Amino acid sequence: MQSLFTQHLATVQQTVQQALELARLDGLWIYAGSAKPHFLDDQHSPFKINPHFNYVFPDPNAEQSWLYLDGKNKPKIYFYAPQDYWHVAPNPPTDTFFASEFDWQILADSQQIAQFIQPQHCAFIGEDEKWAEALGFSHINPKKVLNVLHFARSFKTEFEIKCLYQAQFSALKGHHAAKNAFLDGKSEFEINLAYLQATQQSDNNVPYGNIVAINQNSAILHYTKLDVAPPAERHSFLLDAGTTYLGYASDLTRSYAFDSKSEFAALVAEMEKLKLAVIDNLQVGYNYLSYHTQMHQWISQLLQDFDFVKLPADQIFEEGISRTFFPHGLGHQLGLQVHDVAGFQQNARGTHKAAPELYPSLRCTRDLAEGMVLTIEPGFYFIEMLLNPWKNAPLARFFNWQKIDEFKKFGGIRTEDNVVIRANGAENLTAKAAEMLNIR
Ligand code: GLY
Ligand code: MN
Ligand code: MN
Repeated sequence: MQSLFTQHLATVQQTVQQALELARLDGLWIYAGSAKPHFLDDQHSPFKINPHFNYVFPDPNAEQSWLYLDGKNKPKIYFYAPQDYWHVAPNPPTDTFFASEFDWQILADSQQIAQFIQPQHCAFIGEDEKWAEALGFSHINPKKVLNVLHFARSFKTEFEIKCLYQAQFSALKGHHAAKNAFLDGKSEFEINLAYLQATQQSDNNVPYGNIVAINQNSAILHYTKLDVAPPAERHSFLLDAGTTYLGYASDLTRSYAFDSKSEFAALVAEMEKLKLAVIDNLQVGYNYLSYHTQMHQWISQLLQDFDFVKLPADQIFEEGISRTFFPHGLGHQLGLQVHDVAGFQQNARGTHKAAPELYPSLRCTRDLAEGMVLTIEPGFYFIEMLLNPWKNAPLARFFNWQKIDEFKKFGGIRTEDNVVIRANGAENLTAKAAEMLNIR
């Protein structure tokens, strides 16, 4: 990890230099941030670090610490490590592989940073803009700097790819345990506990709220409720859950049929094949939208083949019917943030290309390039709210309503892997880790 991190930091330094030259500034002060208090309360939300801080200093627990970078000299860490008997104070990671890459200053008090900060010709990067003003900064989160940093972050260094790869292992172990808990008759709540136990992560460490959905609950795309009671009957199970490694996220989904011989199981298997087929096709230079569109054509074919819609696949696609069954995007960039930055940003100047009107939920409009890490997560759902408008449409008679209604009890299917774009195609980090673990 040491040499990968040294290379990573060299890339970061070049990016910082580029940003500073463009914005005509001398340095960046990056603040890690602090946990947010609840309204009128003395309790706090779990701490979520400023991802730009984590990008430079890979310790997601470095609450209230600061970094100073000028793109040339050794970066400086101002690590906040107070004496505290109420809370576990952040522990300076001085014995890690990255410690020696920084000059160190320990802060015993968060306000002590004021003694060190020289705000002239420097930018502040962080959430606490009022404090930055009070500290004398006049360049606070300048767009020019953020655009350069965000664009650079969409091309992962080998260090970052290693972290994203490591995060696959814990998540896969969790998925394996969760699948067994489902088959053992456990409730969503109990399955979530099995997942957390196997990953050794708490609800506060996982990169997003675990989606643990049995039966029709899997038709709610971001279902995070966790029923405590097991269902009377079980038909299907969808788990969308990840883990983090040094702040880098995995984002994996698997769907299961309770009856492995059912037609629903065959549909799950087809979706798995489609996901792998699109991953096989990924190539540098092609736009992410083209793969999303391709998936809609394939799902249109499934709608025809499984007799959900009695029309030819190309007509199903042209009429927009596949958008009812696959209403989200094919995936997104993945990194320190689950829906990582710059999915729409086309260059370091910040040119924005929005999702097309037909696919407003698409989170990536980028041309694929080496080093990008993306999720590929096709879905197929039976969502009442989206199906209903078709009931009064001229094409209503082509829908096999009886079969569609029968399938509502399954909710839906999503399958999601994490891939890195290489010069000659995509490397499937999830499949590679699953093979190492010998689980699927
Ligand atoms: N877990 C959220 C997503 O897959 O985008
Ligand atoms: Mn997901
Ligand atoms: Mn995802």
